[in-house]
Amino acid sequence: MNGLNLIGLKKTFERGTPNEKVGLDNVNLEVRRGDFITVLGSNGAGKSTLFNAILGKFRLDRGTIVLDGEDITRQKDYQRALNIGCLYQNPLRGTAPNMTIEENLALAYTRKASRSFFAVNRRDSAFFRDLLKDLDLGLEDRLKTKMGLLSGGQRQAASLLMATIAEPKLLLLDEHTAALDPATAEKVLALTKRIVSERGLTCLMITHNMQSALTTGNRTIIMDDGRIVLDVSGTERNSLTVPGLLDLFRERSGRMLDNDRMLLG
Ligand SMILES: Nc1ncnc2c1ncn2[C@@H]1O[C@H](COP(=O)(O)OP(=O)(O)O)[C@@H](O)[C@H]1O
Ligand SMILES: [Mg+2]
Repeated sequence: MNGLNLIGLKKTFERGTPNEKVGLDNVNLEVRRGDFITVLGSNGAGKSTLFNAILGKFRLDRGTIVLDGEDITRQKDYQRALNIGCLYQNPLRGTAPNMTIEENLALAYTRKASRSFFAVNRRDSAFFRDLLKDLDLGLEDRLKTKMGLLSGGQRQAASLLMATIAEPKLLLLDEHTAALDPATAEKVLALTKRIVSERGLTCLMITHNMQSALTTGNRTIIMDDGRIVLDVSGTERNSLTVPGLLDLFRERSGRMLDNDRMLLG
């Protein structure tokens, strides 16, 4: 099957200590190729843990992860990174701040095309320039600028390009707009939607904004206490409002979604 299949994922942190904590509690999820799923859940619900499991950042207690038909459960994180792009809240995570935009893009590009890494040739330069021009952020004239000197929004846009340049089988976005001011966050979200749809990427996006969770992508899941408690798509999702979503969550989990950090949009 193409896409991502998570079967019975379980992860316990600090097992056997007073701090023992179940991070993932029998998570099952079938992500079809081309699905763009938004992921909601209170602080500590297990959203980042789910991503870390997919990325191979720790060993699971049990469960199986299949990506485009290949069982990757025992693959090392660096092997998985060839097929999975990811972005975090902090735009510098996953980029080299002291390298130029061009070098960063070359590094990301090289992951797929196995060429020597600093040999950015003229054709690559032109290709990167075109890609940046397409973002419409004025970055195409800044190929030689160090990544660390860009504004937060520009860095996230460039990071998004890096994460997708090698056409990953899966794109994971962990609150990648959360550290940006609202106007910039909106821009980066619009760019995200465009890139995901133009390239037909399979994507999971964690967000705290319930409104954009419902209007971005084709499917929304909510996590609570290490479990997926809600999974909506299609007409059910199309007719759902934020209050409706909150009601559904309360019905399924018997709890309120913690609204301290959740944005109603
Ligand atoms: N490496 C770790 N060691 C111990 N506990 C962890 C670790 N990573 C996550 N946890 C715990 O697992 C739970 C889920 O965390 P996380 O997935 O980061 O939540 P969120 O939904 O906010 O992203 C939290 O209680 C967190 O403290
Ligand atoms: Mg998190």
